[in-house]
Amino acid sequence: MKALILSGGKGTRLRPLTYSGAKQLVPVANKPILWYGIEGIVAAGITDIGIIISPETGEEVKELTGNGDRFGAKITYLLQEHPEGLAHAVKIAQSFLGDSPFIMYLGDNLIQRELNPFLEQFKQQNLDSLILLRPVSNPSAFGVAKVDRNGRVLQLIEKPKDPPSNLALVGIYFFSPRIHEAIAQIKPSPRGELEITDAIQQLIDTSATVEARTLEGWWLDTGKKDDLLEANRIILDTQIRPKIMGELDESSQAIGRVQIGKGTKIVNSSIRGPAIIGENCYLENCFIGPYSSIADGVTLIEADLEHSVVLQSAKIMGIHQRLVDSVIGRRAQLTIAPRRPKALRFMIGDDSHIELT
Ligand code: DAU
Repeated sequence: MKALILSGGKGTRLRPLTYSGAKQLVPVANKPILWYGIEGIVAAGITDIGIIISPETGEEVKELTGNGDRFGAKITYLLQEHPEGLAHAVKIAQSFLGDSPFIMYLGDNLIQRELNPFLEQFKQQNLDSLILLRPVSNPSAFGVAKVDRNGRVLQLIEKPKDPPSNLALVGIYFFSPRIHEAIAQIKPSPRGELEITDAIQQLIDTSATVEARTLEGWWLDTGKKDDLLEANRIILDTQIRPKIMGELDESSQAIGRVQIGKGTKIVNSSIRGPAIIGENCYLENCFIGPYSSIADGVTLIEADLEHSVVLQSAKIMGIHQRLVDSVIGRRAQLTIAPRRPKALRFMIGDDSHIELT
């Protein structure tokens, strides 16, 4: 059994964060989203992993994630020149996959549950495909399944205007090598992509064994800012244990489940968990409220924030209003200028969102 993780694509929905980096590397609780997928796959006993990368962000994915040693896996990187669809990515990976069955995992999906029970069912029933479904309130944003009373999949449609059900396809699929024949039969969709949904439909139409299971627990497709904040909240809530490796002075306090990385200095500040602060940060006169993730090398002075994500080497200084529900990008600076006239001065990247009161 092998695994194929898709970490290519354009990542338009998380702009501006993804102008300068891969969306799968955006951190959730200070760990790249992609790594949760790798860890889940390794925990299910699969260590031969191919990762689809794009020319734009592939080098960064490779450099950060490495050859798999840190996960106890062997990682092979597979370059997809253009994001021509999920089934196209499988085509690119054909020589890596050979005639092995495999899990296909979309690198921006996060799930709570272990993969093992699904893997067992896939193997024991000798299936050509096992797909995971989940009821959602906005099915038009996903691949959608029409199932009969017994849960048998009748039809799959990618992002339908008129969804036949509220059952979305989760971005985790199990395939036998028969998927390659199915992919060879399909044509690009109206949006110009080779859709994996169409390939699974092809399997169904040619009487292959396709089963669906409902995914329990949380599932996050970290496509947008609010999804990212929600993923961050859930991971902090469920996975953070207190661990203080940095220094807090005597007028500072860390309350509840707080992690503070090596080389970080905290002066006259309060941190209320669940929260995580990375390595080599400097915080002075701050309040950091629950559900906040502060990445490495961040400077926060006179800052008050809650339910927010601050990425690497950002600086927030002297803002005397609480920041909430915010994502601050890498190296971004949010400061109060000492000079007059008192005015707002911005240098804001494309697609940024700023709400002032
Ligand atoms: O998240 C679940 C949904 O994922 C499913 O319900 C849909 O059926 C499925 O098509 C997919 O929809 P998305 O719109 O979320 O797909 P997206 O374009 O965001 O791509 C998903 C991941 O695959 C993302 O990490 C980028 C990567 N990718 C995407 C394409 C199109 C590639 O590596 N290569 C590609 O060509």
